[in-house]
Amino acid sequence: MKAYGFTRYGGPENEAFLDLPVPEPGPGELLVRVTASGVNPADWKVRAGLRRAELPLEPPVALGREVAGSVERVGAGVSGFSPGDEVFGGTVGSAGGWAEFARVPASFAALRPSDVAPTDAAVLPVAAATAYDAVVQLAPPPGARVLVIGAGGGVGLAAVQLAVARGVDVVGVASAGKHELLAELGATPLAPGAEVPGRVDAVLDLVGGDALRSAVAGLGGSPSAIVSAADRAGVAMLGGQAVARVRSGERLAAVARLVAEGALDPHVTQVRPFDEAGSALAVVEGGHALGKVVLRIE
Ligand SMILES: NC(=O)c1ccc[n+]([C@@H]2O[C@H](COP(=O)([O-])OP(=O)(O)OC[C@H]3O[C@@H](n4cnc5c(N)ncnc54)[C@H](OP(=O)(O)O)[C@@H]3O)[C@@H](O)[C@H]2O)c1
Repeated sequence: MKAYGFTRYGGPENEAFLDLPVPEPGPGELLVRVTASGVNPADWKVRAGLRRAELPLEPPVALGREVAGSVERVGAGVSGFSPGDEVFGGTVGSAGGWAEFARVPASFAALRPSDVAPTDAAVLPVAAATAYDAVVQLAPPPGARVLVIGAGGGVGLAAVQLAVARGVDVVGVASAGKHELLAELGATPLAPGAEVPGRVDAVLDLVGGDALRSAVAGLGGSPSAIVSAADRAGVAMLGGQAVARVRSGERLAAVARLVAEGALDPHVTQVRPFDEAGSALAVVEGGHALGKVVLRIE
């Protein structure tokens, strides 16, 4: 089957279209015929070897941490899914989603509601579900003021919508080109490095490093909770927590319900053909994507 991934850990020069065997679904897994697959910072981080400790994959590796598609086969012990079901979910191992077929754990898959497009469903398991997990973890009460750093990316735009829907006063840090959309979504946009006027109760960080450190320093120690999806070590040094992911089918179904109800828009801004996998990843690796980039595989 055709796949896009890497043959050696390192830079983008190690990416290539690959001819790989169709993977076997292991126990508890689905083999999914892929319709669409999201593009995430995790993809270039995996290729660069930054995730090798928790994801020790032997190249060649097909990239793509999330998919929507139809169930081709089910592995041993799977219940609740049958061949032909339209599903979406996270991928496992080196059989990623930028391929004709991918392995998806049944525990992190859900049926795709018919009114959620495959290109929307394919971007929910990583970005939107992380935003959901982070907002649940921060649990800001109505009226709380939350600073979202990196508010215009895939996780950020979803987090802004989920927080605003809870009655939270969201200040979204993003570059100027993203301010109009953030204001439309009900957030107060702020340029990176600008002083935050007034108090902040909690911080959701999606950038890490200096952006996180300097933003928190500028708040003078006022936030009671800091959660980061981008910088586990950096947030720990500031007394905050890494986002605790809940990788379950129930969580995916809850996020998809919000999309079906029109309460959450994953903001897919680029649907790229499979042949453009490399340039699609380069957009995300550039670090300034607006919303989500997704590959249409078939
Ligand atoms: N733990 C998990 O399970 C998990 C899941 C999903 C994502 N993540 C991580 O969370 C992070 C965000 O993911 P994502 O998918 O939202 O990435 P993304 O779509 O690439 O968005 C990142 C956003 O950050 C903004 N940004 C970059 N530098 C900034 C700065 N100095 N100040 C403010 N904003 C800045 C970018 O645009 P502008 O600069 O133009 O505003 C961009 O919109 C990544 O590190 C990713 O690996 C972790």
